[in-house]
Amino acid sequence: MRNIKISPSILSADFSKLGSEIKNLENAGADLIHIDVMDGHFVPNITIGPEVVSKLRKYTSLPFDVHLMISPVDNFIRQFAEAGANIITIHPEATKDLPNSINKIKSYNKKAGVSLNPKTPIDEVVPILNEIDLVLIMSVNPGFGGQKFIKSTLEKVKELRKIIDSKKLKTQIEIDGGINFENAKMAKEAGVEILVSGTTIFKENEGNLKKNIELLRAG
Ligand code: DX5
Ligand code: ZN
Repeated sequence: MRNIKISPSILSADFSKLGSEIKNLENAGADLIHIDVMDGHFVPNITIGPEVVSKLRKYTSLPFDVHLMISPVDNFIRQFAEAGANIITIHPEATKDLPNSINKIKSYNKKAGVSLNPKTPIDEVVPILNEIDLVLIMSVNPGFGGQKFIKSTLEKVKELRKIIDSKKLKTQIEIDGGINFENAKMAKEAGVEILVSGTTIFKENEGNLKKNIELLRAG
């Protein structure tokens, strides 16, 4: 079984104290911090911008796994890179030229991820798998935490896993949306290496972050 990493989504955190929430996640054993950036245009919700990300940078040395649900995305890649993102993940629908946007992310020495919505086929990324560090499989339609896991998205994970392994690539598979203790196990068996979770980590077991992170990792 692969070494599973946990990337808690701060979308479910207390936005009035994001700095201490991030510190608590680090102390609870998180491997990365998943930061959901939403513009109210690409998705029907608005969260935070590069200024907030840069202010959060000093609270942890954990990698910032920044999920840009913004469109057009190109104009903001530099700002999030300079704000301290370590991984910058974009949606193919948010750019006119995906390979160019990926090169732009990498030009700032950041890891490049591509996120596939439930209805977006894996063909969007298969030709460029060797150019990207991560594929973020959305197991909900993006925009909000607390949604129900779409089980059929696991078929995309299995297909991608086969392709990545057959080509001996290092591209990682991350899954995002509705992850709980039951479906985390299925996601790992399907071939995921990184689990994103907001609601389960912040709400289960009276919000015991350490216990919830451990249960997701070990389950
Ligand atoms: C949804 C975000 C997800 C979400 C995960 O658009 O990309 O990261 O916050 O939250 P849960 O785990 O509550 O589904
Ligand atoms: Zn996300």
